[in-house]
Amino acid sequence: MDITWIGILILLCIFIYSTWKTIYGRCNLPPGPTPMPLIGTLLHIKRGELVTSLFKLWDRYGSVYTLYFGSRPVVVLCGYEAVKEALVHQGEEFGARGPLPALEKFTQGYGLSLSNGERWKILRTFTEKTLKSFGFGLKSNEWKIQKEAQCVVDEFRKFNGHPLDPSKKLMDAVSNVLCSVIFGDRFEYKDERFSKLFRIVDESFHLATSTWGQLQSILPTLMNYIPGPHHRIIQLSEEMAEFIHERVKASLETLDPSSPRHFIDSFLIKIEEEKNNPKTEFNLRNLLVTTHNLLLAGAETVSTTLRYGLLILLKYSEVQGKLQDEIDQVIGQDRVPNFDDRIEMHYTQAVIHEMQRFCDVSPLNVPHMVTKNVDFKGYQIPKGTEIYPLLCTVHRDPKHFSSPWKFNPNHFLDENGKFKKNDALMAFSAGKRICPGQNLARMELFIFLTTILQNFKLSSHIEFTENDIAPRMTGFLNAPIYYELSFLPRKI
Ligand code: HEM
Repeated sequence: MDITWIGILILLCIFIYSTWKTIYGRCNLPPGPTPMPLIGTLLHIKRGELVTSLFKLWDRYGSVYTLYFGSRPVVVLCGYEAVKEALVHQGEEFGARGPLPALEKFTQGYGLSLSNGERWKILRTFTEKTLKSFGFGLKSNEWKIQKEAQCVVDEFRKFNGHPLDPSKKLMDAVSNVLCSVIFGDRFEYKDERFSKLFRIVDESFHLATSTWGQLQSILPTLMNYIPGPHHRIIQLSEEMAEFIHERVKASLETLDPSSPRHFIDSFLIKIEEEKNNPKTEFNLRNLLVTTHNLLLAGAETVSTTLRYGLLILLKYSEVQGKLQDEIDQVIGQDRVPNFDDRIEMHYTQAVIHEMQRFCDVSPLNVPHMVTKNVDFKGYQIPKGTEIYPLLCTVHRDPKHFSSPWKFNPNHFLDENGKFKKNDALMAFSAGKRICPGQNLARMELFIFLTTILQNFKLSSHIEFTENDIAPRMTGFLNAPIYYELSFLPRKI
């Protein structure tokens, strides 16, 4: 045998041995399918069906199991008990963010959503405090949502009962609520820059959820070298950052440090205050990436939940009817809905909670990582291991929901028909990384849905089946099927 071939053979043996050692060196990790060199447990994941595949492994290996994405171990947590134990009871250890390869090249560790340690703490505290001061998710901000809900109702009315795909109008409305807090003003729905910004958000989610995006999460190094649409996500994010940068420049020109008008102003003031601190986290890159994170995380999630919710109401017209009865009783037709109305609207509350559970908009959650070596349910998980606390398994946990695969508002109603909480609804996740936009999102879901149903009967000439409304459970986002509906003005 020629000397080159012997060399190649030796190198190959060393490579296979070292991969094997990495994998089996961690023998105290939870059980899971046997990994292969290079590809790990990829063969256990059906092409394009990451979520469904992880779901099936729950049946086979129990509530805590290990997968290998290449040679990286990933610990998957399933069901309410395991996810709560990790994110809430051992929240400090499980609270770090794991890698999200689709966005990492863009964020490079900057910004709120994908950072860790001190940077994350500083940005999270600042973001929560500042958004709150502009009424984010508070009663004082309610009028902005009410106004946007009226605008979207006016848009739907223009169709005179003709069928339409509601996606864009809902996305426009939800995005405008965000824009008013972040940039200080809303946009006209036909504004081309605004439409482009949120087309970017839409396309980014679409790509991250696609088979390409899933493969990128599993084998990021390999996918770096393989051409495909997944490379476009970074370009989209840069385009978004450019748009944000324009707005930052415009804010700077009119900034009054004694009177911040919105999130961008407040961040700019902080940059100025800390300009002599070499370790400051208040810099332009953190401002651009954090704003990008807020727009990305806050628009698609809420608008998809609403779009999904309307589809469910087309399928279950009796649920739609009961909601409208409650709206007529508590709110009537002479005033707009407000968030406090929910206290008297038990059925509506139950339906919205059930929508969030059933649609499972973020079935995988966002990856976490352990900050130190952790003992968990008798296993040892080494520092830095990626954790997938699967929200879809919490929402389909038969110990906490009597009919996990069915849309059933009774999951959130007691025997007297009163709304009852269920801790196993974790649409916003739990623990240290819990969604900071949850209050705003709850307010938006309630006000948009009740305003639409106060004004319209939803109708479609198609009879949707249970299969049509079932969540697809493929990748990062559960979006509903494409559908059109008619908004028929209600006559009371
Ligand atoms: C129905 C609507 C929403 C759902 C279902 C949702 C869900 C989630 C989930 C599951 C996470 C990951 C939590 C974790 O890592 O454990 C998250 C994080 C996040 N969400 Fe939301 N979210 C929604 C709306 C919003 C809104 C309106 C905003 C605000 C603009 C927002 C901003 C964020 C941010 C910035 C993070 C990252 C937090 C961090 O890493 O510290 N989300 N969200």
